[in-house]
Amino acid sequence: MTDAARPPTIGVLDSGVGGLSILREIHAQLPDYPTIYYADQAHLPYGPRPQAEIRAYIEQISDYLIAQGAAVVVIACHAASAAGLHYLRARYPDVPFVGMEPAVKPAAERTKTGVIGVLTTTATAEGALYRRVVERFAAEVRVITQVAPSLVTLAEAGAPDTLDSRAIVAAQVDPLLAAGADQIVLACTHFPFVAPLIRAQVGTRAALVDPSAAVARQVGRIIGQPEAIAMSDSMPMRRYCTSGDPQAFADVMARLCGVRAEVEQCTL
Ligand code: DGL
Repeated sequence: MTDAARPPTIGVLDSGVGGLSILREIHAQLPDYPTIYYADQAHLPYGPRPQAEIRAYIEQISDYLIAQGAAVVVIACHAASAAGLHYLRARYPDVPFVGMEPAVKPAAERTKTGVIGVLTTTATAEGALYRRVVERFAAEVRVITQVAPSLVTLAEAGAPDTLDSRAIVAAQVDPLLAAGADQIVLACTHFPFVAPLIRAQVGTRAALVDPSAAVARQVGRIIGQPEAIAMSDSMPMRRYCTSGDPQAFADVMARLCGVRAEVEQCTL
């Protein structure tokens, strides 16, 4: 098979392990595509940082992913999408970017109580994107926004199921339940890894709304149907890079995703 026939590479970035929740969906839906994942753990967490700072980080990372051959870049981070998705699309008009948008629309459509909870980080909650989505899709429902950076920390620690973890989750989720929310939007890509703990706390009182699968479908629509391009027999290349500690990243990824892979240290 010639290089020209090879499927294009999908670049994925996040502040840490959170974007792996999107990457695992991409791998499930588009298993024949090579991928390169970049975790900016040297600057984790993004949530409390000013938008301009996050934008500068993800511009550098996008440069890197494109230089490494990414034909599409997935901003697998709500905070980074809020801070820089429009900017990156203007900066690289020839590269398609897929970003995260808080899944307020499906939650507003499904709620029976008229109350939805949104678990997120500061950068997302204060961004114009979130404001727009709430105005556009949730005008008729009550939206309770819960900024929950402790859940990012929990995911980065491998989301252990301990009494402490359960208490941390309860502190974030209980106010949403008390307000009557029957839909809880996971508006941070780290949170699907904490979903089993959230579900244990919530029981049947609320449903979790996780946009990961829909984002992977969007990547598939942009990059083309797998059957439309020639596939190689061998496993496609899957690269993992972090600006932090590669061994620590590899260990947490193994815990969260069951994937053991070599991780490259990559400071930009
Ligand atoms: N995973 C990121 C998000 O979706 C951000 C977590 C963080 O670094 O604060 O918002």
